[in-house]
Amino acid sequence: MILVFGGNGQLGQELTRVAASRGRALRALTHAQADISDRAAVAAAFARCRPDFVVNAAAYTKVDLAESAIADARLGNESGPAVLAEACAGAGLPLLHVSTDYVFDGSKDGAYLETDLPCPISVYGRSKAAGEEAVRRTLAHHVILRTAWVYSEFGNNFLKTMLRLAATRDEIRVVADQYGSPTSARDIAEAILHIAPSVARDRSLGGTYHFTADGVTTWHGFASRIVNVAASITARRPNVTPIRTVEYPTPAKRPANSQLDCRLFVRTFRLVPRHWTEAVDATTRALANSPHQAESHVT
Ligand SMILES: NC(=O)c1ccc[n+]([C@@H]2O[C@H](COP(=O)([O-])OP(=O)(O)OC[C@H]3O[C@@H](n4cnc5c(N)ncnc54)[C@H](OP(=O)(O)O)[C@@H]3O)[C@@H](O)[C@H]2O)c1
Repeated sequence: MILVFGGNGQLGQELTRVAASRGRALRALTHAQADISDRAAVAAAFARCRPDFVVNAAAYTKVDLAESAIADARLGNESGPAVLAEACAGAGLPLLHVSTDYVFDGSKDGAYLETDLPCPISVYGRSKAAGEEAVRRTLAHHVILRTAWVYSEFGNNFLKTMLRLAATRDEIRVVADQYGSPTSARDIAEAILHIAPSVARDRSLGGTYHFTADGVTTWHGFASRIVNVAASITARRPNVTPIRTVEYPTPAKRPANSQLDCRLFVRTFRLVPRHWTEAVDATTRALANSPHQAESHVT
């Protein structure tokens, strides 16, 4: 049985949905059911669910708010993973911990490798980098899976914001000088379920991996794709205007280059990610056809 923390997030809900469709035993606990920074809550969850594999999909993900809520970001992204890793070490369980492109500063020319040194430029990025370190330090049998630009039919994300704006605005201004790979939480869930049995069986597969969709775009390219696909259903096509990061100031700095090199993951686990356009098109169509369908799968 796979035990997931952060069950009501984008990834947590997709893990529940994909596991159910594959007949895989998985239990996802919401933040209210188990806070990962609470030792007693984590111990009780282990005792109740008796997992053989643990996934940490929980995180403090409010990137801009984190700049002024440093303690909250550290609790969710550093102390929480440390508590989980300790509990897994005590119980002899492997942990798959999800991390982010925001551990890098984005100044690299080309895609980031797993061996590149983290150099975060935001509170969120620093807290996630510290969480990775806590997991590495505490638990040998772990996988740290870094991903980027996550969206889903569930929760709040860029794709859903663009659909909402496209329904009401004639112009949407979107940053066109940050590069990355929009990645469906569903594809991350598929990837996690694919690798979990081999990681559980073979400790030598542990370590840090990058997993995103294939191909690279900008937030502007991502938005244009969403608007075009939605327009074929709704007949509304606002202009998507490219702007520079400096024209859209935010409390937290974002990496200009978020590209993650995923070749190690592909080579090790023999799973090739879909191109970002394929999954974006599918999610956009699903939401544009049925905007109210994305109710929570986790109660
Ligand atoms: N979203 C992205 O673009 C992105 C990009 C790269 C990497 N990632 C990483 O991918 C993973 C999944 O992200 P996501 O997009 O699914 O995030 P999400 O939708 O924000 O979900 C995170 C979940 O974690 C829960 N949570 C927060 N603090 C917790 C705690 N202390 N204990 C237990 N649960 C807690 C949240 O519950 P509440 O809402 O109730 O607090 C929320 O349900 C995270 O590790 C994130 O850092 C995300």
